[in-house]
Amino acid sequence: MRLETSRLLIRDWHPETDAADAIAIYGDPQVTQWIGDKSLDTTVEAVQARLQRYRDRAAAFPGLGCWAVVQPAEQTVIGTVLLMPLPGRDNQPSGKVEIGWHFRPASWGHGYATEAAQAVLQVGFATLGLPTIYAVTLPENERSIRVMQRLHLTDLGSSQDYYGGYTLRLFCRTREDSSKPS
Ligand SMILES: CC(C)(COP(=O)(O)OP(=O)(O)OC[C@H]1O[C@@H](n2cnc3c(N)ncnc32)[C@H](O)[C@@H]1OP(=O)(O)O)[C@@H](O)C(=O)NCCC(=O)NCCS
Repeated sequence: MRLETSRLLIRDWHPETDAADAIAIYGDPQVTQWIGDKSLDTTVEAVQARLQRYRDRAAAFPGLGCWAVVQPAEQTVIGTVLLMPLPGRDNQPSGKVEIGWHFRPASWGHGYATEAAQAVLQVGFATLGLPTIYAVTLPENERSIRVMQRLHLTDLGSSQDYYGGYTLRLFCRTREDSSKPS
């Protein structure tokens, strides 16, 4: 995957050379407290193992993945945007696809997550032909909920059907919604 937006480059993670940037994301509890895989990765080995776990989860599903979001001017990876199989109540793939975002705190508050997610939603609908893309969040994650609202996702309310049964707030967008002018 290689995708340019007005301010960002979205590309595959390169675990060998991106590890330090990945630690600024996954070694920070302000990020990991909100995401499914809560291990706090403060070493190169730990963060590389995480990127490998994401790769393994997506491997059976053509076109899905977890990508690095780069600020080209600074050549820095500032976040992750992903399209992945959404784990069900039993933690096995539910048959649905989720979009997600994990950014280092230093890069919050600039619209980067929304910009990257908008581009990846288009890939999901236009290139992969997905009919519906879901997003889930802990109900207290107000920043992530604001991203979902900016992306015009539909709020489907509380659900315990995903990620092993946690109470989560579920959102979705359909390909049809996406082809309407917003
Ligand atoms: C969730 C997360 C990605 C949101 O990041 P974010 O920077 O708040 O979201 P956006 O990229 O959409 O940025 C929007 C903010 O940038 C501001 N902004 C500043 N300049 C902007 C610009 N040029 N364009 C758009 N927005 C801009 C917006 O006003 C908005 O601020 P507000 O939310 O305070 O009103 C981030 O908090 C994060 O990584 N959290 C930890 C991991 C996590 O929770 N992941 C989701 C699990 S469900």
